[in-house]
Amino acid sequence: MNQPTTSLELVNATRRFGGIVAVNDLSFKVPQGTICGLIGPNGAGKTTVFNLISGFYTPTSGKILFEGEDITGNPPHIVCRKGIARTFQNIRLFSSASSLQNVMVGAHLRQKNPWWFPIVPFLADKEEKMVHDRAHTLLERLGLADVANAPAGSLPYGAQRRLEIARALATNPRFLLLDEPAAGMNPHESSDLMEFIKNIRADFDLTILLIEHDMKVVMGICSHIWVVEYGQCIAEGDADAIRNNPKVIEAYLGEEYLQYA
Ligand SMILES: Nc1ncnc2c1ncn2[C@@H]1O[C@H](COP(=O)(O)OP(=O)(O)OP(=O)(O)O)[C@@H](O)[C@H]1O
Ligand SMILES: [Mg+2]
Repeated sequence: MNQPTTSLELVNATRRFGGIVAVNDLSFKVPQGTICGLIGPNGAGKTTVFNLISGFYTPTSGKILFEGEDITGNPPHIVCRKGIARTFQNIRLFSSASSLQNVMVGAHLRQKNPWWFPIVPFLADKEEKMVHDRAHTLLERLGLADVANAPAGSLPYGAQRRLEIARALATNPRFLLLDEPAAGMNPHESSDLMEFIKNIRADFDLTILLIEHDMKVVMGICSHIWVVEYGQCIAEGDADAIRNNPKVIEAYLGEEYLQYA
């Protein structure tokens, strides 16, 4: 059988903050076109992994490969241009700006025009129109067109999370990192979110890696899951393997989980 193509790979990645080893010699491969999950207790190092991939932090040692290319140490705007986008654990929208303007920020990031383009008035208008139209089309595709002109901060929580994903998609990524997309959602919203994530994966031809504490979401949509504790991988596998792994139950899921799962 052919090996699946790897989209993103961490190779022995380590990140220290003073005496804390937030990520400790972590290696994994995310196969192209999949939705995969990173789970583990609070402070396990999950968000730090995202910060390493997206260039917000440089690994103390180890490597990050995207589509076979070494992107270790690239700054966030370069990582973004290479095709990796992310959302944040705490929503980071411009709350008084409209939904459309928020998505336009993402669309601007992907512009490949030369630096002098926006200072030539005619070209600046042209670029602004392209960015506007692209952002609007995206909002339409994601079912957010009716709130395009509403301030982002006025949207219901679930819609704000989707808007953040829309802004990330506006950068035209091939790989999407979602940090706790279901945080704060009620069961109805999180079940909608699962469909939403599966749909964008297919529609935008993405590979997705998500961090999530909502096990229904993780187990429901992730084909492969890594469990981290103290920055190290303690288990990996599909939902069934993770659910039944005694180490994972002890370190993270807890006995109560089994009663309600
Ligand atoms: N910039 C930083 N400076 C110092 N320590 C940090 C920094 N960022 C993260 N850490 C530490 O690294 C460890 C891992 O943090 P991280 O935010 O990656 O955990 P997490 O798995 O995302 O947790 P949660 O589920 O609560 O979001 C924690 O001990 C945290 O305090
Ligand atoms: Mg986190």
